[in-house]
Amino acid sequence: MVVARQDPAPPAASTSDNPTALSVRDLHAHYRVSHFGIRRDVRAVDGISFEVGRNEIYGLAGESSSGKSTLVKTIARAIRPPLFHVGGEVVFEFPDTGRFSLYELPEEDLARLRWRHLSYIMQASMSVLNPVRRVRHSFADFAFRHIGKRAPEFWALVAGHLERLHLSASVLDSYPHELSGGMRQRVTIALATVCRPDFVIADEPTTALDVVVQKGVLEMIREIQQQMGSSVLFVTHDMSVHAYLADRLGIMYAGRLVEEGPTREILLAPQHPYTRHLVASLPRIGDRSERHGLEGRPPSLAAPPPGCRFHPRCPLAMPICAQEVPPLEDAAPRHRVACHAVKRGSA
Ligand SMILES: Nc1ncnc2c1ncn2[C@@H]1O[C@H](COP(=O)(O)OP(=O)(O)OP(=O)(O)O)[C@@H](O)[C@H]1O
Ligand code: SF4
Ligand SMILES: [Mg+2]
Repeated sequence: MVVARQDPAPPAASTSDNPTALSVRDLHAHYRVSHFGIRRDVRAVDGISFEVGRNEIYGLAGESSSGKSTLVKTIARAIRPPLFHVGGEVVFEFPDTGRFSLYELPEEDLARLRWRHLSYIMQASMSVLNPVRRVRHSFADFAFRHIGKRAPEFWALVAGHLERLHLSASVLDSYPHELSGGMRQRVTIALATVCRPDFVIADEPTTALDVVVQKGVLEMIREIQQQMGSSVLFVTHDMSVHAYLADRLGIMYAGRLVEEGPTREILLAPQHPYTRHLVASLPRIGDRSERHGLEGRPPSLAAPPPGCRFHPRCPLAMPICAQEVPPLEDAAPRHRVACHAVKRGSA
């Protein structure tokens, strides 16, 4: 078991209704790249703070390259060069472990936490599966000691779990390269959820799957959350998946969180001009009205614009928007928005 950090400060007030399971404070993570010998920092996560409650599903949305994967990688402490954690805290609190600050944990404590307490399903990756060993070995290595059953019961449990993901137990005897991309993705999801962890981080886990299998995966994630009181941080660009799964939604733009609130409110009454655009561009049955795209492109995260990063594209931009970063502030109970116009009531 992990030794909880002795921190006299009380847990931050959760913006969810439940006790806090994850608290992210002023998190910064940069890719340090070299361009013609000049070092540049790509500020993919640039001062993000939010919380996820116990037994809550928190969805992260935003257009491609907004920093969603970088954010969850940093929260899972699954980073390697050129990505660096350059500031801020990631604090988890689970019933069996107490409270701990992820970047202050020794590697061996972190290894003990993975799979049982904290699991991370990486975007488009099978790297967790050892390419030269049969799938069975990955389950034995990662899950056996955590589940604490005798071998026959353990393998029966694994087979039942695989079945829920429409996989036969015969995949256990395959090498990863013998499986299709969709099967590997499901095996990875099975591995990440079989221990029924306290916290699941899932980055586009269903994108490569067909609709029937996708539904099975989403139902299983929801069931684990409901039965075990687990928390889930779920990334997808598919807003219909968020509508189905997420209790709350965070919207990212250019490395920052620009709006956060209950999923229904975000989808029915978005407040930030970027979220409004995102929601307005969703297809709706029977709606034939003309859609207007946003002018311009998202900024370079190596040289982002000052102030609000959305200002070069924002239809409501004012002079202050190019000068001052709008703080993410309460616009309604449990609903935060980072926008000068919303703050002034002119949005
Ligand atoms: N290895 C890398 N080196 C330098 N920059 C990177 C690297 N990986 C990602 N980035 C940059 O970091 C920013 C955030 O990328 P990230 O993959 O986190 O976005 P995303 O929101 O997950 O996008 P998608 O929806 O396409 O998965 C982008 O500008 C991207 O170009
Ligand atoms: S702060 Fe200004 S530029 Fe940014 S979204 Fe609000 S109105 Fe638009
Ligand atoms: Mg991504």
